[in-house]
Amino acid sequence: MPKRSLKTRILQLRVITCIFFILSIKAVLLFFANYGVYKYPHIPAEVLETQLYKQRSPKLVLHKSKPDCKYDEILGSTSSLLNWEVPRRFDDFSAQGLVNGSYAPEHCNALFSVAVVVAYRNRQSQLDIFLPYMHNFLRKQNIHYRIYVVEQQDEKIFNKGILYNVGAKTALGDQFPCLILHDVDLLPLDAANLYACAASPRHMSASIDKFRFVLPYDYLTGGVLALKAQQFVAVNGFSNRFEGWGGEDDDFSYRLAAHKLDVVRFPVAMSRYTMLEHPQERRNSARLQILRDSIRDGGARDGLSTLPPVHVRVATHRLFTLVGVRL
Ligand SMILES: *[C@@H]1O[C@H](CO)[C@@H](O)[C@H](O)[C@H]1NC(C)=O
Repeated sequence: MPKRSLKTRILQLRVITCIFFILSIKAVLLFFANYGVYKYPHIPAEVLETQLYKQRSPKLVLHKSKPDCKYDEILGSTSSLLNWEVPRRFDDFSAQGLVNGSYAPEHCNALFSVAVVVAYRNRQSQLDIFLPYMHNFLRKQNIHYRIYVVEQQDEKIFNKGILYNVGAKTALGDQFPCLILHDVDLLPLDAANLYACAASPRHMSASIDKFRFVLPYDYLTGGVLALKAQQFVAVNGFSNRFEGWGGEDDDFSYRLAAHKLDVVRFPVAMSRYTMLEHPQERRNSARLQILRDSIRDGGARDGLSTLPPVHVRVATHRLFTLVGVRL
């Protein structure tokens, strides 16, 4: 017995070594493969300010006695949070300066008006973190902004495209020139990540901790996306046909491409986000077929202009404007 088992054990050891070796090589290769994507193309930090879309809402009240706000300090900030430093409780949160989910700086006239549009349902614990965190983050940025939470208030299958279309319509009604479409589970970590539109649509959440801070694929526009209101209208908004989880973001990405709207990004050090935990949503198994159909018929016929008749109710709260939608 002793001799045989020694041989077997040595053999086993070799097999294990071999497997370990192969796995190590695979890990190294993966690392380098990802490294390429980690260094995604972006607008150089030096010229960022020239690329920003400086436009205010006509509804923003300006004060002649105050100077225009400055943004170079924000864009040049190196202050960042590590993902585990993100607070989960906001016991001493102050709502100072907030009205109807909106804010404008006191000491200067903002150069940017931005509508943050969040498609939402049934994620109360995330919203409870998102709202105070975002207000604390955004109030430091010298921008005029308003947070719209667009909530699907029925038992039908979640339809993010319709929610974004309704949210954008509401923000357009309030004359916001820039929309930021924002997942409720993503929180920005870098103070330099200015919430403003650029000349081209801007994919803001390029570097998310859940994806090891790597951009998973180049045409990804989901997560957080900033674009001019007029660009959203030009591509006819989102498709209304995607139900459940997935597909609508990629379809929107094709719409932008079809209109020759290149998506730009900021450097990694300004684009990091942490993702809050949540259970996986039910995937839409038909999403690939809808995506193919949508691309085949030129896509954009179905969208903002063909929004189905939905019930919309707008209600204002201190920390957000609630846009209730019933399909
Ligand atoms: C906030 O919303 C309420 C109700 O919709 C409205 O009457 C009020 O004028 C708004 N306040 C501001 C400052 O926009």
